[in-house]
Amino acid sequence: MSTAATEVNPEPDAETPDDVLVDVRGLKVHFPIKRGVIFDRTVGHVYAVDGMDMQIRRGETYGLVGESGCGKSTFGRALLRLEEPTDGTVTFDGVDVASLNGEDLRRKRQDMQMVFQDPMSSLDPRQTVESLLLEGMKAHGLTKDGKAAGERLRELLKAVGLPPAALSKYPHEFSGGQRQRIGIARALSVNPRLIVADEPVSALDVSVQAQVINLLEDLQEEFDLTYLVVAHDLAVVRHISDTVGVMYLGALVEEGAADDLYAEPLHPYTRALMSAVPVPDPGQEDRRERIILAGDLPSPANPPTGCRFHTRCPWKQDTLCDTDRPQLRTVELTGVPGTHRVACHFAEQIHAGEIQPHEVDPELTAQMGLDGPDGKDIIPVSVVHNPVGGP
Ligand SMILES: Nc1ncnc2c1ncn2[C@@H]1O[C@H](COP(=O)(O)OP(=O)(O)OP(=O)(O)O)[C@@H](O)[C@H]1O
Ligand code: SF4
Ligand SMILES: [Mg+2]
Repeated sequence: MSTAATEVNPEPDAETPDDVLVDVRGLKVHFPIKRGVIFDRTVGHVYAVDGMDMQIRRGETYGLVGESGCGKSTFGRALLRLEEPTDGTVTFDGVDVASLNGEDLRRKRQDMQMVFQDPMSSLDPRQTVESLLLEGMKAHGLTKDGKAAGERLRELLKAVGLPPAALSKYPHEFSGGQRQRIGIARALSVNPRLIVADEPVSALDVSVQAQVINLLEDLQEEFDLTYLVVAHDLAVVRHISDTVGVMYLGALVEEGAADDLYAEPLHPYTRALMSAVPVPDPGQEDRRERIILAGDLPSPANPPTGCRFHTRCPWKQDTLCDTDRPQLRTVELTGVPGTHRVACHFAEQIHAGEIQPHEVDPELTAQMGLDGPDGKDIIPVSVVHNPVGGP
């Protein structure tokens, strides 16, 4: 298990710039895997978030993408301290979130709200919209003046494009898109500064997705909001984000301004993700690079050593890749700005075409959890590199 990974953050003590609202350094969230009826032993860990370093600037939208199971939701929840970090820090507007307890933490949570993927399961079906919206406001003492609270409710509904009559209805009386509008109004009701939107449109019909995305954008301007938008759909993230971070097995592998990252993806994983997105221009579509990733995401309970992507990387090399975990770093490449960072030992050589891709084949990887022969647990979770023409 690669627990002795290199620290990803090169400057852990660097000061947070003034325009940064959320500063995350070396964040880890490891879930213990328990076994045994009597003693409840810890037999391993799920390394859901394992060395995240990133900053979200005030008023921006940060889009976080990655495959299912790579740790996006756990990371979003850890920002709001809905998950307890194993290590690392989250600083929100200069305050270390981990240092807060009791009333201080409750007050800080007013600033940080979450919008969930499935509004049906995040909204209590037995409560009317009015009571759902008032719930958070009450918890933060925003309903003491009844008249002002009533006005606020109407304002909120207007902001998310729902009629005042919606107040007396129940969640099941709305369509999926409308329910997500209620979820957004609920998050907005306590005047947050940061909204973590976890797959906010992936449960919605394509026709409704754009409306909800546009709504989020309008609200950002109106209420001066900062967003972390978590999604597996690159198209959603591109449209809405100023900065995009690509996550793989618990950490960022690439980060940059959305336009830069889409114009010049540097990490093999990002290139593979992008190559799966069709482009509207038929000429460009014919010339589009296609990288098919073999195998699933390796288990976060048993992440590969070195570069976590090495078991699936078509550019994997015989040195460094399977032994040293690459840091997220800037690269010296013409036209690539200093804000564009990548965690790959060979980003420059891949970019220059000095290293060519090769095929990868699936393999069976030992993993805790399922019994295999001779006491080892076996599950097909990843692939290994198999150089073309090699054994
Ligand atoms: N409370 C928990 N206890 C143990 N393991 C957990 C817990 N929560 C999440 N995990 C595991 O941590 C890993 C990351 O999960 P997470 O939900 O953060 O991924 P994700 O990127 O949001 O995936 P998806 O796109 O499917 O929502 C997964 O392997 C998941 O099974
Ligand atoms: S070339 Fe090596 S370091 Fe770069 S992504 Fe592939 S396996 Fe990782
Ligand atoms: Mg998730």
